[in-house]
Amino acid sequence: MAPRRKSVMSIVGARPQFVKAAVVSRALDTAGVREVLVHTGQHYDHGMSKVFFDELDIPEPDINLGIGSGPHGRQTGLMLQALEKVMMETEPALVIIYGDTNSTLAAAIAAAKLHIPVAHVEAGLRSFNMRMPEEINRILSDRVSSILLCPTETAVDNLNREGIKERVYNVGDVMYDAALYYSGRAVALDTTCAGQFGEKGFYLATLHRAENTDDAARLEAIMSVLASLDKPVLLPLHPRTRARLAASGITPEGAVRVVEPVGYLEMVTLERSAAAILTDSGGMQKEACFHGTPCVTLRDETEWVETVEAGWNILAGADAVTISAAVMFFRKHPPQKRLEAFGDGKAGDRIAGLVKKSLTGKARGA
Ligand code: UD1
Ligand code: UDP
Repeated sequence: MAPRRKSVMSIVGARPQFVKAAVVSRALDTAGVREVLVHTGQHYDHGMSKVFFDELDIPEPDINLGIGSGPHGRQTGLMLQALEKVMMETEPALVIIYGDTNSTLAAAIAAAKLHIPVAHVEAGLRSFNMRMPEEINRILSDRVSSILLCPTETAVDNLNREGIKERVYNVGDVMYDAALYYSGRAVALDTTCAGQFGEKGFYLATLHRAENTDDAARLEAIMSVLASLDKPVLLPLHPRTRARLAASGITPEGAVRVVEPVGYLEMVTLERSAAAILTDSGGMQKEACFHGTPCVTLRDETEWVETVEAGWNILAGADAVTISAAVMFFRKHPPQKRLEAFGDGKAGDRIAGLVKKSLTGKARGA
């Protein structure tokens, strides 16, 4: 591809990054900023990748590196090598990275070593658990980024505490923008895989975090409490978890109804219609609150502390008693408080504005 000095390059690879990039790509287009979109190929199944591009009107990636799955070192290393080549050929003026996946880290390192400025969307999140691969990816990516686009004030504070104070902006959460923008396109409940359960007639669960899937005891504990809940539990199953369940000899049973991963628009309907959401997903903890559904988080800590503080989210880890007590608590005490920590739905526009200014050398202090 011919050099495009005044273009920006966005790097995506995994499901949540497609949702974030959908918002930013549209805002960049509106702002007249040329974007080269690179897909690392980290996620590649139709239901984990293409469906998001189709449903969210994300432009077809200019380049798909087709890296695929693998252990962290191999996957990140192959991405780094391939991204470096693409960046050297394309010479973007700025690289935009999203979130905290291996695709994020590889892009951050490739760009920083080529002296290309990096803008990090969802900068400053911290779980303070260095055993999470995502925590390592976030800290390292933030360290080499030159525009830090934080979703919340907590994220700004986290960066400040680490001594990162320059070009740190609270722009709001692009996933909130997405929730508002795409809600109007959500499908009717009776056309979804939860149609037979009816409004509030089911719980929605997702599970993919390494700390749960790669620990047989935690995985078994979570699956058994889901099986024992008092309503059907719809579980759109991440391929990682499917593989781990099979390897651990765990068969989903009782209340659990396993389905394939669903597209974003179907997911919005499921999130709105569920009686509660049980998840270890980062994005879904927030979406639960955005759509007015209580969330039980199957982790020991969260980056999205505002959701817990506002009473929409209970951290239950993998403990069966705590998980079922949290579900029962929400039945008796549905959360009421409005959640305002995630911005005004215009994070994408703010990001595009800052990116545009940086291309003309005016972002500092913007
Ligand atoms: C990755 C991110 C995680 C993010 C999640 C979103 C890292 C370290 N982790 O985790 O932060 O929350 O994406 O979903 O980057 N697989 C398929 N088909 C696919 C994709 C994956 O079968 O299209 C299977 C493969 O067996 C693969 C496993 O899922 O080994 C894990 O995929 P990977 O992308 O490495 O990590 P995720 O668990 O998806
Ligand atoms: N999602 C989806 N279908 C699914 C599971 C998740 O559309 O079957 C969406 C979800 O609504 C959110 C994003 O994917 O927008 C979150 O991705 P995931 O949970 O895989 O990653 P995380 O947010 O934990 O990094």
